[in-house]
Amino acid sequence: MNNTLLAIDFGSSSVKAVIAKPDLEHNIGILGIGTQKSQGIYKGIITNIEDAANSIRDAVLMAKKNTLENFDTTVVSISGNHTKSIRSSGSVNVPNGIITETEINQVMQMALYNATIVPEYEVIHVIPIHFKVDDTVDVDNPLNMNGSRLEASVFIVTAKRTSLTNIKSALKISGIENCIFVLDGYASAMALLDSQQKKFGATVINLGDSTTEFVCFKSNSLIFNGFIPVGSSHITNDLSEMLHTPPAAAEKLKIDYGSLIKDYSPKNDLGITKVKIPRIGDEHTSSEVALESIQTIIHARVEEILILIRKNLKKSGLLDNIGSGIVVTGGMSNLDGIKVLAQAVFDGIPVSISAPKNIKNGFMSLDEPTMSTIVGILYLMLGKSRGFELDSNKKLVRPIKVDPRISKPAHVDINTQKADDINTSANVKSNETNLSNLDLNNKQAILTPLDDKQKKKGVGKFWTKISEWF
Ligand SMILES: Nc1ncnc2c1ncn2[C@@H]1O[C@H](COP(=O)(O)OP(=O)(O)OP(=O)(O)O)[C@@H](O)[C@H]1O
Ligand SMILES: [Mg+2]
Repeated sequence: MNNTLLAIDFGSSSVKAVIAKPDLEHNIGILGIGTQKSQGIYKGIITNIEDAANSIRDAVLMAKKNTLENFDTTVVSISGNHTKSIRSSGSVNVPNGIITETEINQVMQMALYNATIVPEYEVIHVIPIHFKVDDTVDVDNPLNMNGSRLEASVFIVTAKRTSLTNIKSALKISGIENCIFVLDGYASAMALLDSQQKKFGATVINLGDSTTEFVCFKSNSLIFNGFIPVGSSHITNDLSEMLHTPPAAAEKLKIDYGSLIKDYSPKNDLGITKVKIPRIGDEHTSSEVALESIQTIIHARVEEILILIRKNLKKSGLLDNIGSGIVVTGGMSNLDGIKVLAQAVFDGIPVSISAPKNIKNGFMSLDEPTMSTIVGILYLMLGKSRGFELDSNKKLVRPIKVDPRISKPAHVDINTQKADDINTSANVKSNETNLSNLDLNNKQAILTPLDDKQKKKGVGKFWTKISEWF
């Protein structure tokens, strides 16, 4: 075991592969990144094993180009399309009076044993919602606590065996024998939510290419996962069909002119109201289309997706109990004005558009909303704030013990990108001043009086001027 990990996010539009390894301070070091156009997967389901295998192989080969390290664990994201989630609980005796990892493992296995798993489904995650030691409720981490009985309430994610077997087959053809599966939405949440958001509750929506994944967190645990088989490629298809233009031209229209808020009406300030597009079947002929029409088509599809999510959350009783708000990510979150529309649809619930903070490593970058899932896999497997859970091999994942002699003070060093807690990595892309962006651990950031140099700027500059008059 050399602790080197290969993470794969097999998305519908691209496969992302990252090879990473923790350093001595348990910061995540990126060794290689590969991305390739996806083939053989749609709406989270493998449609062609050979094509899927080729896409995975190409992405992994690209990631391997930058490193000579061999990886000993492979972790692959799976879509919520395959999954069913249930809750369960279990309890065990603590024979020695002190809770060790053995009892924690036993109680989680017991909760799993007590659950009714739908036939043909396999376990992906067993995540503790809370532990109880004797009569003490809601213990976050029972390790080393005194007690005679340990209880666990858990959230179990299961996935369809046939879908998993197809992914395993594609991985095998591409040269990968064993892997651990991680739910896509759960991974995204790990990349984006900070500890406060996890505690008070938050919903993460990953708007991808042909899938929309959403998960809810409360009291530091995953409590819900949802899925809609619609994503940004549906906008492209709508534009292509309605405007009779080839899909490639429709995709370009979406990226170049797609906006939910720009004024494309006649005589707008942008000075542009129409664009020329090729006609399907006869690409040498072009036709003119009003940007207003494009906007209407895009708006209708995006609004539909957001309303579907809202209905789903409402039905599950979570909409009125979302906590700190909704965090939107994934490729489609790049769409201009998505925050405004999401705020309107979710009526009063705070919405932010988010991407993982870059775990920089020289020229390689991971700070795009499309990278939330892959970065989340790294955080989930290698991050310092991971908790106890059972993985898809039903093995106990433990929190990482950081040696205090080598750990850094609790704040994020933005220049070196060495976040001591992965959860502080949410990078809320917003033009507004956002209090949650402040590094509250770094008290200097909010409490230090202005030094002379700073005083020269802004109010300080004005003050200097007044002082000169006297
Ligand atoms: N500005 C934009 N407006 C709308 N869509 C966009 C924009 N930029 C990128 N996209 C879309 O984002 C999608 C890719 O996002 P992402 O990488 O999150 O998807 P994926 O992970 O490959 O797919 P999935 O998660 O659905 O399996 C593409 O469909 C792309 O067209
Ligand atoms: Mg995705």
